[in-house]
Amino acid sequence: MKVLVTGACGYIGSHTVVDLIENGFDVVSVDAHFNSDPSVLEQIEKITGVSVPHYPVNLVDREKTRKIFEDHPDIKGIIHFAALKLVGESVEKPLEYFDNNLNSLLNILWMSKEFKVEHLIFSSSCSVYGNATELPVTEQTPLQEAESPYARTKQMGEQIIKDFSRSYEPMDFILLRYFNPAGAHTSNLLGESPVQPAANLVPVITETAIGKRKSMTVFGDDYETRDGSCVRDYIHVMDLANAHTKALQYLEAHKNQDQVEVFNLGIGEGATVLEAIHAFEKVTGEKLNYEIGPRRPGDVVAIYSNYEAAKNKLGWSPKMGIEEIMETAWEWERRRSGEEMS
Ligand code: WQD
Repeated sequence: MKVLVTGACGYIGSHTVVDLIENGFDVVSVDAHFNSDPSVLEQIEKITGVSVPHYPVNLVDREKTRKIFEDHPDIKGIIHFAALKLVGESVEKPLEYFDNNLNSLLNILWMSKEFKVEHLIFSSSCSVYGNATELPVTEQTPLQEAESPYARTKQMGEQIIKDFSRSYEPMDFILLRYFNPAGAHTSNLLGESPVQPAANLVPVITETAIGKRKSMTVFGDDYETRDGSCVRDYIHVMDLANAHTKALQYLEAHKNQDQVEVFNLGIGEGATVLEAIHAFEKVTGEKLNYEIGPRRPGDVVAIYSNYEAAKNKLGWSPKMGIEEIMETAWEWERRRSGEEMS
């Protein structure tokens, strides 16, 4: 099956493209490169031997988006990653987040209808739960008020897809709610390589350890958690990538009962920020220079997943934990810094 992967040069997108190719899918890439570099496609070719057709296009441009489907009328599936994704940044720049994240989704849906695409996998987020009233969260946990415009765009994206599905029978959808993706490809040829300065915890940890940052700040240790710092469910990016392949295979085999199905993707346990830092120090032997600072606006106190639905219906389960995340992230940081120095 030919699959269009939007945001294919991004962190999760690139790891998913590798997993799709390794599972026999024919991939087309589109990425506007707001926070990614086309050179990622060379790394994907090194790992898979496949040179993926690529369109450096912003999906907000409907005519340029249409050109992709005219060139590839046999696109049967779409995995839609392309979105701005930083919680903190979305609080400062809400209009950019609504404009980019919603209009790119709308154009993908317009093209899906025009070109009779059969399956859409939507990159959603655990941030749709807000400060959940129960933990771990299941797919039935009621969604609370979004804590950031980023989370709001994911809640709205899910609703747009549900409303669209009711008007357009021939297409089915899976909404994947990611918890906290982290780590790097075990080949050490792919990893989190943001063009913008990293804001997520794990790359901030590795940049601090390698010396790119003098120190890092733990955003608050006065929360109601076991050590006062926020709890998150860190999932290795390769496990997350494989879940997309399994979701597409599930739809391709028409195993879905409903037109729109939702799955949590996490490892089913939470780690605090301080526990993540200590896991990094233990795994790498590196002492981390951090200080405790004020809370970050938009942060949820604690969230971690129940992923039984993905396990039982998609046949997916995570293979790696926080140790493999820190090992691969550190290897990747050392490689990247080595290349930057050379
Ligand atoms: C994690 C924890 C911070 C940096 C992410 C993605 C979002 C979505 C959900 C997929 C928080 C703390 C961080 C630092 C810190 N993923 N932290 N110091 O906010 O949970 O959101 O996962 O859709 O796209 O951004 O991730 O890594 O920014 O923060 O203390 O320098 O680490 O306060 O508690 P977050 P994060």
